Amino acid sequence: MTTMVKPSWALNGSKDSKLNIGLIGVGLRGTNHLENILLRKDCSIRAICDIDQNRIKIARELIEKEQSSKVEYFSANELDYQNLLALKNLDAVIISTPWLWHTRMAVDAMEAGVYAGLEVSAANTLEECWDLVNTHERTGTHMMLLENVNFRRDIMAVTNMVRQDVFGELVHFRCGYQHDLRFVKLNDGKTAYGKGVEFGENGISESKWRTEHSLMRNADVYPTHGLGPIAMMADINRGNRLLSLTSTATKSIGLHNYIVENGGENHPNADLKFKQGDIITSTIETSRGESIIVTHDCNLPRPYSLGFRVQGGKGLWEVDGNRIYIEGKSPAHRWEDDQKWLEQYDHPLWKEFGDYAAEAGHGGMDFFVLNAFVEAVKENKAPLIDCYDAAAWSAVTPLSELSIENNGAPQAFPDFTRGQWMKRQPDIW
Ligand SMILES: NC(=O)c1ccc[n+]([C@@H]2O[C@H](COP(=O)([O-])OP(=O)(O)OC[C@H]3O[C@@H](n4cnc5c(N)ncnc54)[C@H](O)[C@@H]3O)[C@@H](O)[C@H]2O)c1
Repeated sequence: MTTMVKPSWALNGSKDSKLNIGLIGVGLRGTNHLENILLRKDCSIRAICDIDQNRIKIARELIEKEQSSKVEYFSANELDYQNLLALKNLDAVIISTPWLWHTRMAVDAMEAGVYAGLEVSAANTLEECWDLVNTHERTGTHMMLLENVNFRRDIMAVTNMVRQDVFGELVHFRCGYQHDLRFVKLNDGKTAYGKGVEFGENGISESKWRTEHSLMRNADVYPTHGLGPIAMMADINRGNRLLSLTSTATKSIGLHNYIVENGGENHPNADLKFKQGDIITSTIETSRGESIIVTHDCNLPRPYSLGFRVQGGKGLWEVDGNRIYIEGKSPAHRWEDDQKWLEQYDHPLWKEFGDYAAEAGHGGMDFFVLNAFVEAVKENKAPLIDCYDAAAWSAVTPLSELSIENNGAPQAFPDFTRGQWMKRQPDIW
């Protein structure tokens, strides 16, 4: 817990006006949200739900150190979260559970009239994407996809540059989730990032559920960390929209090799055939004629990178190499270090709260995503990342699966806004 002086917004809450927040899922990510909520003066934890008693115990200890008001705990079974949602005086809920629970829990929250904050990704099938949209429209209750990368300092600075026309008319983007997750998808069942080659019932934390998706689906199962920031820059669902996608998948060797190297070739998991290709490449067309290449690369050794490129008629920025080229301003035909540009276009919010935010995890972006959620809940207004964004970005998973199954055949994105994207205006980030 930090002892830093808190900025003025965090001092606004009084005993009576605090937001009452519930958390469903307090594994690694949910606990991170819990810690950040406990830092705020304008929020109070109302209830916690998790099916794992160990996680409840950790949450209870954290809460008891920081908060005196009563908290209710729910852990009876997998549907006990519905009792949490039925509580009186619950303003909002944050859902940080395995992916297959996401849509169901967010839909139930909206049905119960509780503003939902949903971890990424939002949905696994097109039907689930529509469920989010239809439930929001029918109930009038909001949901926000908690995509923290949209709030990363460099992303907000580059978005600022896009808005101020530094790159000219936008043409092409690249992004993706490029993160060696072998030691997360496979562990020893005792520590989340432990050595070992177990998963499912024998694993712990994400290996308990995430690895099954690599076993059973040849799809980009985690598109939003890359696509979310690009969608914000490209005004997707606000004057622009994702039109269609083609995807290809490589063979799968990464997880199998890791199992053999760390568990031996006689380990039962060495016989498994992982369906997910190690590199999945999707190319998306937008209605404004841009292309977006989205990569999913989580099963091979590599340094972490979300691989951003933002390119327009005047120049481009690339995160790998931290470099930029703007015609007429950069040395001719040569890359320039991006530092000076990122500082010049640093977002005002980061300038003001950057030091404080750094305490919140993931380099500060977790502070900003939570803050955006809390501020939207306070006014019961539509969030910066709404159900239409959640649906469009998450649709990459089922559409990439379909395209790969059909030898790269193009797949059309449904228009989840039903035409409203033509009228909706870009938000002020
Ligand atoms: N935005 C980010 O940077 C970021 C980082 C990590 C994880 N995530 C996302 O957060 C989510 C959770 O990931 P994690 O790393 O915390 O995983 P985790 O496995 O550590 O935590 C999931 C928790 O959900 C609980 N749970 C499962 N089913 C439940 C149910 N029916 N009711 C109540 N609780 C239930 C589990 O017991 C566990 O404690 C995932 O969607 C993941 O993609 C996002």
